[in-house]
Amino acid sequence: STTRTYDFVVEERRGAPDGVEKLMLVVNGQFPGPTIEANTGDRIVVNVTNKMSNSTAIHWHGLYQRGTNYYDGTDAITQCGIPPGASMIYNFTFDGWMGSTWWHAHSMTQYTDGIVGALVVHAKNESVPSYDGDLVLQLSDFYHTFSPALLNLYFTPGGLEGTPGNEPVPDGGVINGVGQYGNSANTPKAAFWNATLESNKTYRLRLVNTGSFVAMQFSVDNHTLTVVEADGTAVKPFEVSSASVAVAQRYSVLLRTNQSAGAYWIRAGLDQDAFTYDNPGTQTEIRGVIRYGVANSTMPDFELLDNPPSLPTGSPQELDTSDLVPVGGGPAPDATFQVYFTISMQYASTTGDNYLSKFLAFINSTSWEPLQGTSSLFSHLGNSTSDGSADLADSQLVTTINEQHVVQMVIDNLDDGDHPFHLHGHKFWIVGQGDGRFQGTSTIANNTAPMICDTLVIPAYTHAVLRFTGDNPGFWAFHCHIQWHMAAGLLFQFNVLPSESAKFDIPQYMLEQCK
Ligand code: C2O
Repeated sequence: STTRTYDFVVEERRGAPDGVEKLMLVVNGQFPGPTIEANTGDRIVVNVTNKMSNSTAIHWHGLYQRGTNYYDGTDAITQCGIPPGASMIYNFTFDGWMGSTWWHAHSMTQYTDGIVGALVVHAKNESVPSYDGDLVLQLSDFYHTFSPALLNLYFTPGGLEGTPGNEPVPDGGVINGVGQYGNSANTPKAAFWNATLESNKTYRLRLVNTGSFVAMQFSVDNHTLTVVEADGTAVKPFEVSSASVAVAQRYSVLLRTNQSAGAYWIRAGLDQDAFTYDNPGTQTEIRGVIRYGVANSTMPDFELLDNPPSLPTGSPQELDTSDLVPVGGGPAPDATFQVYFTISMQYASTTGDNYLSKFLAFINSTSWEPLQGTSSLFSHLGNSTSDGSADLADSQLVTTINEQHVVQMVIDNLDDGDHPFHLHGHKFWIVGQGDGRFQGTSTIANNTAPMICDTLVIPAYTHAVLRFTGDNPGFWAFHCHIQWHMAAGLLFQFNVLPSESAKFDIPQYMLEQCK
């Protein structure tokens, strides 16, 4: 194994990925930021320098961080934010992890404005069919307004369409940082992310939704796709014509360049069902190009954009995650510890210490508030700064797992929105999903070979039953990955094996970054 070192300089910059200039937050002046590509077992050392005017933290989504919970990069949970002008070195290994994932700022809604990038981890024994080449496709919704301003509108009455809690509707989207909104959309003048491939080969497209709100419906004209990986889990090959990728989910799909030589549209459609109001200007389908057997400037027919070719009859359907079966999968172990959660969101007009008049998300009856300069992990270790400001805030829901357990989470989504939930530091088995509250049984119950992943959509008014082995010491967030919802408090924490995390040797300067 190798040690790979990166320097990330995070700064505020103006940029125009889709042709409309806006204030962005970016790493090394790039959007998306640098791709980290490594082999399983490699050590990654990233020196992050914060040149922004707010503190930040960088999270490595989906990794285990076994023994290095303090490098998980979750602001107010596993560290205090890196203060403006300061640096922090993340140092971790890809132990046992393989597949496709991403990194992003985990501090308020900073990644919405650009702090995202891909992580690709190769392994010899990945249990996916062989392929000739791979490409990362970061699919994302995109906003022209700087996210803190949108967040304010989202929280307060009179904000978006007069109602608090209407999620900001994106202006459009980007594929690998390229969109068409302001570039006379979909005319030959517009910019399209594009790739020139070779004919009669198999490519692994690593789809990552690096967006903030909506799922992206991905397809390639005239081609079917074979799903072989989801969230770092190899799955039995499953053929689809399109795949809906929710925020923070990842799928690898195989694309065979076996059609006539030419150029083909790639489409990433924004899930408009999630839109809470009309934004007539939104570009709802973002396009890119793949081509093979032709010159690398060849473009597909622009007339096809609004009249996509249909696939032959009998072609496969859309991806439904419940169709996926992990390679070598088996039953989940029996649960030895159960926790029950309800999700709800409402305008809270009580003026308690924390709940000012604003729209909030609740797990049970708590709403997470990421207090600046605090860290759940550090306060647990008794390493709070001299002024004691790192004390655990009361507003946080923390479930402690004192000994190794198979934890079963039962989650009732009582809200009218879909929530892509993500668990840090572990993957979970999806043992049940169904309509309404969980009352002992689920319509989709599977304990033969349930899917194993780290991000799952829990649709409106449904429940999910998930299990994970709580054997990885530290504070781990479980939260809705929609940035507006997380900022509204839709997050809770597991404190796994506190007697083990008490032994962590956390660099002193990290403790001193709490203030
Ligand atoms: Cu993608 Cu809490 O993370």
